[in-house]
Amino acid sequence: MKVSEAVASRKTIRAFRPDPVPRATVESILALAARAPSGGNLQPWRAYVLLGEARDELVRRVAEARKTRPMGERPEYHIYPLDLTEPYKTRRFRVGEAMYATMAIPREDKPARLKFFSGNWEFFGAPVGVIFTIDRIMQQGQWSDLGMFLQTVMLLAREHGLHTCPQEAWALWHSVIREYLEVPANEMIFCGMGIGHADESHPVNSLATERAPLDEWVTVRE
Ligand SMILES: Cc1cc2nc3c(=O)[nH]c(=O)nc-3n(C[C@H](O)[C@H](O)[C@H](O)COP(=O)(O)O)c2cc1C
Repeated sequence: MKVSEAVASRKTIRAFRPDPVPRATVESILALAARAPSGGNLQPWRAYVLLGEARDELVRRVAEARKTRPMGERPEYHIYPLDLTEPYKTRRFRVGEAMYATMAIPREDKPARLKFFSGNWEFFGAPVGVIFTIDRIMQQGQWSDLGMFLQTVMLLAREHGLHTCPQEAWALWHSVIREYLEVPANEMIFCGMGIGHADESHPVNSLATERAPLDEWVTVRE
């Protein structure tokens, strides 16, 4: 697979088939993804891979916690800026509307939207769940390194015929995750990621997200 094919075919999958993914495949993806660059070669990423019963147990613990806090805990970092300005606000709105439109869930049907959203906390059915953390001492540069690492994981997954779902939604359960995985206090839980085989028959996976045209965000001078 060419890099351009991996980039073009990577998209966020929100319905996976249960078919298992071998542990060796996940380990080889992570090992190669660690070739991602990082300022000063700090390699500021940390990953907790959950397979089989270990994955199911996290899903169970969150389901239990949801009984008292259906929308989760206050995350340890701002997932979005508190005051999202344009054009970002509209982009966020449009992708949400487009996603729920694939399943014909209208804006007014909050319970149906919440039900779908809460699938995040089941890794949308993916057999592999990964939780990514970063040391709290790290600054913007290292968060960017972590992002590059995550994209590399997602592209390598494509080469194995796998798809991914990066999930900040897991940041809404940081203390449940911390307790279960014994994440040290110096690590902040950034996001999770489901990895597996896409369920191509699920309408949500037909979502094709937009991108702003080049002239909106590129300045070229000659
Ligand atoms: C760090 C990160 C966290 C994300 N968290 C979630 C999430 O919690 N739930 C979700 O459904 N999508 C999540 N997404 C997916 C984005 O909504 C998606 O990348 C964006 O809409 C573009 O669509 P595409 O990935 O299909 O190209 C996340 C993406 C990134 C990069």
